[in-house]
Amino acid sequence: MKIQQNISLKPFNTFGIDVNAKAYCNITSVEQLSECLMQNHEDELFILGGGSNMLLTEDIESLVIHINLKGISIVEENENSVIVKAMAGENWHEFVLWTLKHNFGGVENLSLIPGNIGTAPIQNIGAYGVELKDVFVSCDTIDVESQKSKIYSKKDCNFNYRESIFKQQLKGKCIITSVNLKLTTKNHKLHLDYGAIKSQLELAEKTNPTIKDVSDAVISIRQSKLPDPNKIGNSGSFFKNPVISVIDFNELKVNFPDAPSYQVSETEIKVPAGWLIEKAGFKGKRFNDYGVHHKQALVLVNYGGAKGSDIHKLALLIKATVKRIFNIDIETEVNIM
Ligand code: EPU
Repeated sequence: MKIQQNISLKPFNTFGIDVNAKAYCNITSVEQLSECLMQNHEDELFILGGGSNMLLTEDIESLVIHINLKGISIVEENENSVIVKAMAGENWHEFVLWTLKHNFGGVENLSLIPGNIGTAPIQNIGAYGVELKDVFVSCDTIDVESQKSKIYSKKDCNFNYRESIFKQQLKGKCIITSVNLKLTTKNHKLHLDYGAIKSQLELAEKTNPTIKDVSDAVISIRQSKLPDPNKIGNSGSFFKNPVISVIDFNELKVNFPDAPSYQVSETEIKVPAGWLIEKAGFKGKRFNDYGVHHKQALVLVNYGGAKGSDIHKLALLIKATVKRIFNIDIETEVNIM
């Protein structure tokens, strides 16, 4: 295990922000991780996974621990399902492709989500009607303080919309080293309720779709409106879709009768932040090296060379404008560091 000094984090964050880590450690085994934590005497650590859900606004003064643990294995086989263990440093989408190759169902709707396996539970990644929690069994973690390992079950994780215990009480306190997921081996349950998936499958003339067809449909939809982080720096949805009361939504409807919505409960409604941001006039707006994506207003982009602090300022401006126009608070999904 080697600690390197002054390493640029540009290749390790999907926004492509060029900040330096004062000290950086690449971790390829759980033993190395324990050793690194044991030797660390700083109060704060910076745990880096796929770097797909963060906006870096300044150089990182604390030790950056880059989790590059690799490996995928089947740990249990039942009649209709398997439990697959994937190490935290595996790329999420490559893992999805692996499941499709083995005809294991459950994560096909989550195709092409950037990031790694180990960060997927932190924000309970989700797309097109499926969330990680739907297939999640447990994850192995290491406690930063004591270096003891601990398994967290699905119940322990307190999953919610883009939320989990790892974003709340356990923030910075433990590191996920691997994740166990339960996937189907036959009679796959397809999730086609999201309108865009159905129409994409019809377009591809898939009347009896397989999990691979669903994955292909999701990939087409995502590629048609979300920028590829390898080409244009971004972190996917920058904001969460706000949940407001039915009363507030009815008030919104008076001035904005076309406001789209999803019912969350009898008393709550989710409004797409992308719609709010578009209505506020930001969609496609470009400020020098950064801006708001022209096809999806929920995504902020770095056209190359932008500073994280500039993108952060834009996010604050968007938040304040949405508040002024609609009286709705939108929260970031991305972590500002
Ligand atoms: N909309 C606009 N303008 C825009 C974008 C969206 O008016 O620029 C409106 C449209 O009415 C559209 C509605 O928003 O029908 C919903 O848009 P979309 O189906 O694209 O989904 P989203 O709510 O914008 C969420 C997730 C995405 C996920 C998609 C599909 C959040 C914050 N985002 O986006 O997740 O891929 O649903 O399930 O929940 C991510 O987290 O990085 C991400 C991309």
